[in-house]
Amino acid sequence: MKYQAKLPQDFPKNFLWGASTSAFQVEGAANEDGKGTTVADLRAQKSKYLDTSVSVDHYHHVDEDVKLMAELGLKSYRFSISWARIFPHGNDKKPNLKGVEFYNHLIDSLVENNIEPIVTIFHFDLPQSLVKQYGGWASRKCINDYYHYAKTLFQLYGDRVNYWLTINEQSLLANVPSMNGITDIDADTLHQKGEQSNYNMFVAQAKVYNLCHQILPNAKIGPAVSYMTTLPYDHTSIDALKSKQLEDMIGFIDMDVALRGKLPNYYLRYLQDNKIELDIEEKDQAIFKDGKADFLGLNWYSTSIFKLNEQSNPKMLTGVISGVEKISDERIMNSEWDFSYDPQGLRYALQKVNDRFPNIPIIITECGWPEKEKLENGEIHDQKRIKYLNGHIYQLREAIKDGINIISFNPWSFIDLLSVNDGMDKRYGLIYVDRDNFNAKQLHRYKKDSYYFYQKVIQTNAKNVKKCE
Ligand code: BG6
Repeated sequence: MKYQAKLPQDFPKNFLWGASTSAFQVEGAANEDGKGTTVADLRAQKSKYLDTSVSVDHYHHVDEDVKLMAELGLKSYRFSISWARIFPHGNDKKPNLKGVEFYNHLIDSLVENNIEPIVTIFHFDLPQSLVKQYGGWASRKCINDYYHYAKTLFQLYGDRVNYWLTINEQSLLANVPSMNGITDIDADTLHQKGEQSNYNMFVAQAKVYNLCHQILPNAKIGPAVSYMTTLPYDHTSIDALKSKQLEDMIGFIDMDVALRGKLPNYYLRYLQDNKIELDIEEKDQAIFKDGKADFLGLNWYSTSIFKLNEQSNPKMLTGVISGVEKISDERIMNSEWDFSYDPQGLRYALQKVNDRFPNIPIIITECGWPEKEKLENGEIHDQKRIKYLNGHIYQLREAIKDGINIISFNPWSFIDLLSVNDGMDKRYGLIYVDRDNFNAKQLHRYKKDSYYFYQKVIQTNAKNVKKCE
């Protein structure tokens, strides 16, 4: 018998070419129409230059922005709902009608323009009141409040939203507890609370996967995971082991729990080594087993290289594994923001995910290039971003030819927005917004060169993308 292999050769016709944002990074109107304060608002107020009160004012420019999406030709738009716009205190008896209406309008406008909404339920903006009431995610009470909030969203918008993302970059929230409003405590307590929050978020998500399957049987739900390619600096097993441990602890942990329904052994070992005891309940095991994701949302930006350094022993983030440091390596071009340009890193990362979870549908929920930019004659010639998009889309097609089930690409970001730490200095958008950190100006929108490049990508199903190794 003769056998001819038949793997896909290109992006499928129904591929969801999209773009991505999150609520507090674009909406503004932080105190309008009944919205409650979030931990992101407070963090911004402390910084003095992260302006969530106006941001890029998507709240008041929503019609203009959706028009720009339609003209771009988007097939999907990934955005988040602000929990505190729906429930100002996080767990109010009734939802805030003005908030409900804003998202109804946005979702209706997207659907009218044949743009598939991909909705993140929670993206870095916990209602501050929940921190005040019981410490936020560090308390198991938050599991029920998140569940109730997610249920409300399913009931309100489930008739039009087919793709749901539970929590954005949980591993980051676990390793930087201040992002969840957990502050002013000593390092060990912070560590303990960070991991308890992590666990509570795992339980909450498992419950919500299950709930979604019950009440919206046609919808799909998954996590939006922070994932980067990690490479060892030296050809030594110890560097390889350390970079693998980082990859597990930052990227795979959220995927493993979402798809395998239990805490992985490398995480149990980590908890044990750090003498962290979790508050768990017997019923949790069954919750994990019954609540699994349908797809993976991957936030992938770049590759990082790691080297053994016995002296390095921080408790958080890159220090989730002690004794390792990140190296800036000239073999992969670094941007001003310490990002690497490594499109093959994306293909390699996707292969690893597919090896671990064969044929799992993948949505690229973020992927983007940051720049400092200045408007000149109403134009932005963002050639590096075009190069970045071209390279990564080329390698995405290669990954599809490898047989990997990628269904959507949503670069970060649709429009310029507030970078988490660098505000308007660090821009990712396909559209320029004329404002800076301290002056909101008129907030006029200008299409960058990358907007036109990506428009062509969508029109031609990426036929304009050039070969890129
Ligand atoms: C991801 C987040 O971590 O990276 C986004 O999901 C964030 O919210 C993006 O904006 C880029 O990071 P930064 O720090 O440049 O805003």
